[in-house]
Amino acid sequence: MVVRYWIGFLVLALISSACSATGRSARMEKGQALFQFHCAPCHEMPPPDLLKEPPKLNGLFSSKTLPSGAPATDEQVRKVIIEGFKTMPAFEKRLKEEEVRDLIAYLYTLK
Ligand code: HEC
Repeated sequence: MVVRYWIGFLVLALISSACSATGRSARMEKGQALFQFHCAPCHEMPPPDLLKEPPKLNGLFSSKTLPSGAPATDEQVRKVIIEGFKTMPAFEKRLKEEEVRDLIAYLYTLK
């Protein structure tokens, strides 16, 4: 009985970890597409006529602070994306709450 219980538990644990792994990579893929479309045109290949050259976003979360000196937290980056920051436009009307989450998940993978 106990053994059967454990096998059932193991199978469940395996299934749920497989699911959460695909959930994560699906989120990152969406985040990557959003990044390429909305952020890369400035942050990866900035047009020469911008007032200020956008900072590279690689390793954003491995530093304690953002280029501006604000804390490098999910909450702060979310705020920058939604409200904009100085010369960076706000994305409030262009991105859904869930898309901002996917984007932030992707930003974590940029080394
Ligand atoms: C029109 C060009 C443009 C686009 C598009 C853009 N950014 Fe920016 N971004 C900037 C500029 C310019 C700055 C620097 C602003 C400053 O310091 O004056 C900046 C700064 C930032 C910062 C640093 C903020 C800080 O506190 O230092 C983050 C994070 C950021 N952008 C993320 C994003 C993300 C994510 C996207 C895509 C949703 C995006 N940006 C799209 C131009 C852009």
